[in-house]
Amino acid sequence: MILGASGTIGSAIFRRLSQEKTLRVAGTCFSARQKESPDLIRFSLEADILPLLRQVRPDVIVSALRGDFGKQLAVHEAAANYVFAHSGKMIFLSTVNVFDGSLEKPHYESDARIAHSDYGRFKLQCEDLLWDRLGRQAAVLRLPFVWGKNSPRMEAVRAGCSAGELEVYDIQCNHAADLQIAELVEWIIREDKSGTFHVGTSDIVGYEPFMERLIAAMGEKKPRFVRGEAAGVMAVLNSRTDIPHKLLDWDSERLIQYLCMP
Ligand SMILES: NC(=O)c1ccc[n+]([C@@H]2O[C@H](COP(=O)([O-])OP(=O)(O)OC[C@H]3O[C@@H](n4cnc5c(N)ncnc54)[C@H](OP(=O)(O)O)[C@@H]3O)[C@@H](O)[C@H]2O)c1
Repeated sequence: MILGASGTIGSAIFRRLSQEKTLRVAGTCFSARQKESPDLIRFSLEADILPLLRQVRPDVIVSALRGDFGKQLAVHEAAANYVFAHSGKMIFLSTVNVFDGSLEKPHYESDARIAHSDYGRFKLQCEDLLWDRLGRQAAVLRLPFVWGKNSPRMEAVRAGCSAGELEVYDIQCNHAADLQIAELVEWIIREDKSGTFHVGTSDIVGYEPFMERLIAAMGEKKPRFVRGEAAGVMAVLNSRTDIPHKLLDWDSERLIQYLCMP
C-alpha cells in the first residue's frame, strides 16, 4: 500500500508495482483527481489511518507522503504499529536533508546525521521512529533532488525557459529519477531487504551546469539563471554492495536522457 500514490514519487512506485502481476497494489491520494488509477483511495492526514489499514490489510506500506509534520508523524506511528503487529514491512522516503547541517561533503548510509532544517529534523525523527518500532522490518530510502518527466521540477524548468529566467542553487549535488526509486522499491519488496538505502546518480555535479545540460537536451534556449546563496554539497552516495548494478547504474547523463525521452 502506497501512502501518497498520487504524488511525483508515489505515482512512479504505484505504476511500477502495478506492472508486477504477483502483487496487489493499493494507494492513497488526497487532493488529486484520481488520474493515475481508479483504485486510489482518498486519505487525509487528519483522519485515523487504522480503519484504512484494516480494510486494505497491506503486507508492505510505502510512505511517500507530504503534509503537516506532526500529523505525518502520528500517521507513521500508527502505520508502524500496524506493520509490527502484522509482521509486515514499512518503506519510508527520507531525504538528503537529514545531513543538511553538514554540507562539506557527500554522505554515505552510515554517516552520522546532522539536520539543520525543520524538514531535515522531521525526517530524522521519522527515521528514528521506524528504527525503534520496526528494526529490520523497515527500509529507509534517502533521496536527493528527485525528477520525473512531468514532475514539478521539470515543470519549473519548462516555465523558467518560457519566462526567460530560472532560479538555480549554488550547490554541488546528485539527483534521482522517479523510475530509479520505483525500481529499487520493487527490488526491496521482492528480496525482502531492509536498512538504509541512498538512491541517486553516481556523479556529483554543480546544480547550474546540470541545468545547462538539461535545458540544452530539451532543445530550449538557456534562460537567465538567478543564483541563490552558496550552500556546499547536498549528495547521498551508495556504499551497499548487495544492490544489483543495474539499479545503481544511473549518472546525470542517463537521468537527462531519461527526462528528455518522449
Ligand atoms: N521530490 C523530491 O525531490 C524529494 C526529495 C527527497 C525526499 N522526498 C520525499 O519523498 C516523498 C514524496 O515526495 P513527492 O515529491 O513525490 O511529493 P508530492 O508529489 O508532493 O506528493 C505527496 C503525496 O502526499 C499526499 N498528501 C499531501 N498532503 C496530504 C494530506 N494532508 N493528507 C494526505 N495525503 C497528503 C499527496 O496527495 P495529493 O497529490 O492527492 O494531494 C501526494 O500523494 C516525501 O515524503 C518527500 O519528503 C522527495
